Amino acid sequence: MVHIDYWIAALLSALWIMLPSYVPNPAAVILGGGIPIDGGRLHADGNRLLGDGKTVRGLLLGILAGVLVGSVQILLQTQGLPEFLPRHTLLSVSLLATGALAGDLVKSYFKRRRGIPQGQKWPVADQYDFVAGALLLTLAGAPAWVLSNITIPIFLWILVLTPLLHRAVNLLGYSLGVKDVPW
Ligand code: CTP
Ligand code: MG
Repeated sequence: MVHIDYWIAALLSALWIMLPSYVPNPAAVILGGGIPIDGGRLHADGNRLLGDGKTVRGLLLGILAGVLVGSVQILLQTQGLPEFLPRHTLLSVSLLATGALAGDLVKSYFKRRRGIPQGQKWPVADQYDFVAGALLLTLAGAPAWVLSNITIPIFLWILVLTPLLHRAVNLLGYSLGVKDVPW
């Protein structure tokens, strides 16, 4: 049973690591709105730079929500957690939360360049934008933390779990009426 324990420990570690980057997107859906980050500006191709789906409030409150959840995780770490769980730092949770919405912004930029209207789906990119953004920014800002905490099995779980969680959360948001489309 050693192998099962090992993979379950990696799965729980993947969720623990990625939680600060899973929160900002749904938080932005619930708390966002108002002034768009691109200020309504158009690109030379005639399409919006980012679109109305990327707002200043969504960005700021989304990041804040991710950092808040991460801070609760850091507090819990001082209350005795299972040995195997990786330990967050204020830097790791900040980079993960910021990177998630940075990835989301970059994705929208390229979505608009491809002529895909705001809110329409762009498979694969919609599911992995925030994970790619979160992991790349954290790798850039805290490389030692990433290399010592995100092992290969944890990384594989992140790749498998992320699109499933993304799908589940969006379906939930849609059925609750918080989100206009189920993706
Ligand atoms: N949102 C926000 N600010 C952000 C990100 C998201 O206000 N920085 C809110 C917007 O209300 C947005 C909703 O969350 O419509 C859903 O986010 P998302 O699916 O990322 O954006 P889309 O509207 O689908 O736009 P895009 O096609 O650019 O992905
Ligand atoms: Mg969308």
